[in-house]
Amino acid sequence: MNDDLTRRRLLQIGALGAVTAGLAACAPAGSPTPMTTETWMPPADPMPFPANYTWGTATSAFQVEGSTTVDGRGVSIWDTFCAEPRRIRDGSTGDPGADHYNRWESDLDLMAELGLGAYRFSVAWPRIQPLGSGAVNQKGVDFYRTLVDGLVERGIKPGITLYHWDLPQPLQDAGGWPARDTAYRFADYARIMFDALGDVDADWFTINEPKTTSYVGHLYGAHAPGIADADAAAASVHHQLLGHGLAVRQFRDSGAQGRIGIALNLTPVYPASEEFSDSARLVDGAENRLFLDPVLLGSYPDDAIGRLGGMLHADKAAFDALVLDGDLAITSEPCEFLAIQYYGSGGVGFDGASVELWPTSNATWQQVHAEGLYDLLMRLKADYPAIPIVITENGIPDESPALTTDDGYRVAYLRDHFVQAARAIGDGSLLEAHYVWSMLDNFEWAEGYQQRWGIVAVDFETQKRSPKRSFEYYKGVISANAVSLS
Ligand code: FCB
Repeated sequence: MNDDLTRRRLLQIGALGAVTAGLAACAPAGSPTPMTTETWMPPADPMPFPANYTWGTATSAFQVEGSTTVDGRGVSIWDTFCAEPRRIRDGSTGDPGADHYNRWESDLDLMAELGLGAYRFSVAWPRIQPLGSGAVNQKGVDFYRTLVDGLVERGIKPGITLYHWDLPQPLQDAGGWPARDTAYRFADYARIMFDALGDVDADWFTINEPKTTSYVGHLYGAHAPGIADADAAAASVHHQLLGHGLAVRQFRDSGAQGRIGIALNLTPVYPASEEFSDSARLVDGAENRLFLDPVLLGSYPDDAIGRLGGMLHADKAAFDALVLDGDLAITSEPCEFLAIQYYGSGGVGFDGASVELWPTSNATWQQVHAEGLYDLLMRLKADYPAIPIVITENGIPDESPALTTDDGYRVAYLRDHFVQAARAIGDGSLLEAHYVWSMLDNFEWAEGYQQRWGIVAVDFETQKRSPKRSFEYYKGVISANAVSLS
């Protein structure tokens, strides 16, 4: 199945089909994320960020490292998935990626040149525990130790994601995320990393986008492990969140320095017209509250899983039976921050169908809507206990798969989102960091090498790096610690 058709078109859960509608300038109050943006005009003067604001970029192991068979790395579900016919659009694999495993040093130099405050990367679990449990592969640990030391030497704070989708294959063979045991294996692995790198002041991110793993990996089958089963998707939600909380407990117990949280991709949803408000509320349940509530409130919403259009169409009673006494205390283990990933908004029509309210990027699942970031930040402030927020991913692909450094399109996207972030801070959001996705062009999952998300272009033949216009633009924003419209 084509990734672009399915990836994170999560809004189509339970939908009868896509509906087209005009701009929903008149979305009614009472929708999950009321549109509050009509009257706001950005100021003519530059909008400053707080002095301690963190500017970052992000990548993930499987997307950039390459070198998938060296130094004792085990096999991940993404290696397996790539090896299956027709799973990846261009038939490619995680090799060569951006060859970051070998080129990390010059990549860190580029980050220093950019003036980054923080770099978010992920640890490949199969490099640490090739079998997913038990024996530790020291060479894997050493790679990340060197990377972290290289960041610290350059004055860049490490942001360490523990799980960015590359589950060791033996754990998949034992049931994967739909199996409760995987949560405990994840916590064991997390502890290995806290013990290895916990002397460094870092921000740790437990799980990257549990929603994508559950829905795209287990409901649509368009990502590894390629399962299409709603009950498996629902089970994988709970077990990832459980794994998150168990890892947070290990973090505290290990005495590691730094801070920890989970990285949730959130999508503000808007009814295409007033009659779809109830549907939009259900879609919001499956898109957002199913992940936010167990982490921040210690409860699951009642309206996210079930048979109504817009819900995750799984057996609610079976899901509830998976949530054992004490589990919600684990999923809501206190964290220092909530990490959110923002790519765009969603419109909702009849029966929860996805409606295109804003233009999409070259990734057709992405409806570009900068004001949605503001609405999302305000909604978090209104509906959840106060907690610092970090945006750990935000970005857009190049307009075409061809190698280019001329990405005015991305400059405009970033500028518009920085403006909305500054606006939200002015209105009381506890936002304290913004990481651009991505530092480098890389392997974009089921799109293979056909979508370039980097602010640095990578020629996948030669591995030559060429900073794009957006790199220069971002450098200016970082050094001014301000965004301006001009
Ligand atoms: C996010 C993923 C990241 C990348 C971007 C485009 O959902 O976390 O790995 O694929 O989308």
